[in-house]
Amino acid sequence: MRHHFRFAIPGLLLLGAICFFPAGSAHAQSDTLAATPPMGWNSWNHFAGKVTDADVRAAADAMVSSGMRDAGYIYVNIDDTWEGPRDAQGNITTNSKFPDMKALSDYVHSKGLKLGIYSSPGPKTCAGYPGSYGHEQQDADTYAKWGIDYLKYDLCSYGGIMKKEAANDQQKQWEMMQAAYEKMHQALLSTHRPIVFSLCQYGFDAVWNWGPKVGGNLWRTTGDINDSYDRMSVIGFAQAGLSKYAAPGHWNDPDMLEVGNGHMTPDEYRTHMSLWAILAAPLLAGNDLSKMDSTTKSILMNKDVIAVDQDRLGIQGDRVSAVGPFEVWSKPLEGGAKAVALFNRSEAEYPITVDFKSVGFDGPVHARDLWSHKDLGTLDGSYTATVPKDGVVMLRLSK
Ligand code: GLA
Repeated sequence: MRHHFRFAIPGLLLLGAICFFPAGSAHAQSDTLAATPPMGWNSWNHFAGKVTDADVRAAADAMVSSGMRDAGYIYVNIDDTWEGPRDAQGNITTNSKFPDMKALSDYVHSKGLKLGIYSSPGPKTCAGYPGSYGHEQQDADTYAKWGIDYLKYDLCSYGGIMKKEAANDQQKQWEMMQAAYEKMHQALLSTHRPIVFSLCQYGFDAVWNWGPKVGGNLWRTTGDINDSYDRMSVIGFAQAGLSKYAAPGHWNDPDMLEVGNGHMTPDEYRTHMSLWAILAAPLLAGNDLSKMDSTTKSILMNKDVIAVDQDRLGIQGDRVSAVGPFEVWSKPLEGGAKAVALFNRSEAEYPITVDFKSVGFDGPVHARDLWSHKDLGTLDGSYTATVPKDGVVMLRLSK
């Protein structure tokens, strides 16, 4: 049941609350967090293993001074490589790149932002730093003490534990994986601090079927993105069909943004941003926010496109048609409007037509172009736009 239905019918809301969220239920917290797809920044795509406290502070500063915070980007997320050894009591510590996590968290919070962190259910993270295996509750308590607001929990070396303990039993391995995520979910809940829970296990075992059950506010649906049109588009367009699994509090995550990292053209980055918005994907910028040119800013802070991603209904969009490399996708928006994106995945510019009936409109529609920021007036029947190679034209249609 989607949130807007619950809001619309208070009686059903109560019934739903009793049926679905019995007292102390694991789902109570995860449903109120991430009502729209999380927005923010993550250190990995640009800084990878080199990220430091100073880089994270600079990202927080830039998030405010660039206008990104006011455009909705709130989470400042430290990815892998912050971890130090465990102390004599088994508490996780930070390494020398992060001298004082509580002070960093106070700094980030003082800017009106939230701080995210990263760990693994395995003994080691993907970059070989200590993971949370056997220390789940202790780590959750430490995060809460530091003032952490978001945890990305990355399978990494837990895959090896699964293989060792259930060598020839794939089903048993998947059960172990789900249990490992559920374990950290329970640990986070028992801290009583609202902490967004981000599942990262690359989509194994159709995570969208069970992600909400283990408290996932978002779950990676794929392997890692990189800063190339080929990888970004393979991941992005492969999200077709997943829309029914997303809802407020629970999002499909096709991985973080590469906008501004330098290896795609502006048209390709506009495709990236448009597709992620149509997908109601988390918008986690992955570039160096302290060094953004005006094109990067105009893409990351396109308020019309962000509004599509963040629409309160929380309905993920999906593919309407694919004619060879020419694709039309649409996403329902509040008030009966629709976002519609025309993608050209071919080698040259080409005119793409959207038939309004195919996206649910009969009769005249009002159209706005969300990249040129121009009102196209009232249109009837269809609209044709010349779309550049690897590019997009994105519209908002309403009655
Ligand atoms: C995995 C994840 C990435 C990143 C790295 C860090 O590859 O999928 O997003 O977190 O680990 O080591």
